[in-house]
Amino acid sequence: MSNSSQKALVPIWAKLTSTPQSSLEVLFDDDQARFDAMSGRIEWASEEGANGILFDWSKTHLDEALLSGFEELADAAGFEEKRAALLSGAAINVTEGRAAQHTAQRGIGAEPAVEEAAALHARMGMLVEAIHAGALGDIKHLIHIGIGGSALGPALAVDALTRDLALVDVHVVSNIDGVALEAAFAACDPQTTMVAVASKTFTTIETMTNAASALKWLGEGGVDDPVGRVVALTASPEKAVEWGVDETRVLPFNESVGGRYSIWSSIGFPVAIAAGWDEFTAMLAGARAVDEHFRDNDGRANLPLRAAFADQFYSRLRGCQTRAVFAYDERLSLFPDYLQQLEMESNGKRVSVDGEELDGPSAAITWGGVGTDAQHAVFQLLHQGMHEVPVDFIASIAPGDALDPAHHNILLTNCFAQGAALMAGGNMSDSGDDPAREFPGDRPSATMLCDDLDAATLGALIAFHEHRTFANAVLLGINPFDQFGVELGKKMANDIDAGGQAFDPSTMALLEKAGLG
Ligand code: F6P
Repeated sequence: MSNSSQKALVPIWAKLTSTPQSSLEVLFDDDQARFDAMSGRIEWASEEGANGILFDWSKTHLDEALLSGFEELADAAGFEEKRAALLSGAAINVTEGRAAQHTAQRGIGAEPAVEEAAALHARMGMLVEAIHAGALGDIKHLIHIGIGGSALGPALAVDALTRDLALVDVHVVSNIDGVALEAAFAACDPQTTMVAVASKTFTTIETMTNAASALKWLGEGGVDDPVGRVVALTASPEKAVEWGVDETRVLPFNESVGGRYSIWSSIGFPVAIAAGWDEFTAMLAGARAVDEHFRDNDGRANLPLRAAFADQFYSRLRGCQTRAVFAYDERLSLFPDYLQQLEMESNGKRVSVDGEELDGPSAAITWGGVGTDAQHAVFQLLHQGMHEVPVDFIASIAPGDALDPAHHNILLTNCFAQGAALMAGGNMSDSGDDPAREFPGDRPSATMLCDDLDAATLGALIAFHEHRTFANAVLLGINPFDQFGVELGKKMANDIDAGGQAFDPSTMALLEKAGLG
């Protein structure tokens, strides 16, 4: 991402900092149509007609002056140029000299990348179909081995989309802790299990160690040709072949698709295996609808950009160090985990694209959970703690269950009540003046209300957050597509493994206590 000097943005940030801020109560009192002005829908066609997501940012403190200020910031930061660069396949990941072509997987982007993605998807679709038809034998289980971006997306999507029916029982294993792999072994029969080894680089130690153990388990379970049961999902196909996977079962993707943006590529293989090919392509179509919205709208009308305005407002102007995400939908239990990698690995940076040290936090810490569980655990702090935490709520109008509608009604009313309570505040004591029962209110939230949490909606939700993350990076002037911060710890682990080196006294003592010194 080439960058106009961050210095040019300083006066705009200064103006934003001194822009008067109103309470949520005043904002709603002053503008009866605030909900309409501060919410918007992204829609796409579905079998039932239009399907979509309503993005309601009215319970945030953004007002006309702040929105205009952030629009000025986006212009000065080169938002439109950088978005064009992203979608044209320019090498915006400057530190690694690479493009970031995840949208091409959804059909939006530079033609060669879009064409290549379509061809690779076609190949993947054929393999998925062949496996469903029995080409690898009677496959009932898939152990998907990967970590980070090669696991979080598959785990989220498989969990979200196969609650009713899974064509194949999928177990996503990421941790090197053998306990994780043993749990998958315990749930699978080697005779009817295949293994997906998912690694962009095909070198990650956790994944390669787990993959080797999985082959051993297949062999010990009486499978004659264990590697014949392996499918490799990777941007380094030659390494997968070298490792022993037959070319016909290597599903490549392009190097320009980042790990945490790779669910749309062959890394989505377990989703197609478990939920079916149509569900996988529906997920791509939902993401594409968001890509089109993001490409075709500017300023506040661009909903991911508007969300980034709010993110920057809370993190840079009000000093909120975290943002919480609560899905009022059991199927999205893994969504906060997914977002943590997407947002924190992308925007947890300390220097700008120009290499200048940032003068404030780069991005809020993302955390969250599932409602209503979280209400009975962490919401105390949100309502009465001293931290200001902007909250995102996600819910679906259509229920995911077939039980008494009371379940879903209680779920939704609780979701909306939390946003209302955070904003309104009040005092819960009979006298109305007990400080321990006082709720300060004026606490911000945003709500993403899905018509129905189907595969397209899941794709749209993920793509929305990808673009929100990108928009935040543009406003901050940072490169969201590298992740050098993960390298030092890996190197140290290798150094320890190699032995013979001195580390700090604490680390040396711990190694010795564990019998590794
Ligand atoms: O260590 C971080 C990371 O590189 C992530 O960015 C990535 O998603 C993950 O490791 C897994 O990498 P790979 O897909 O190459 O195994």
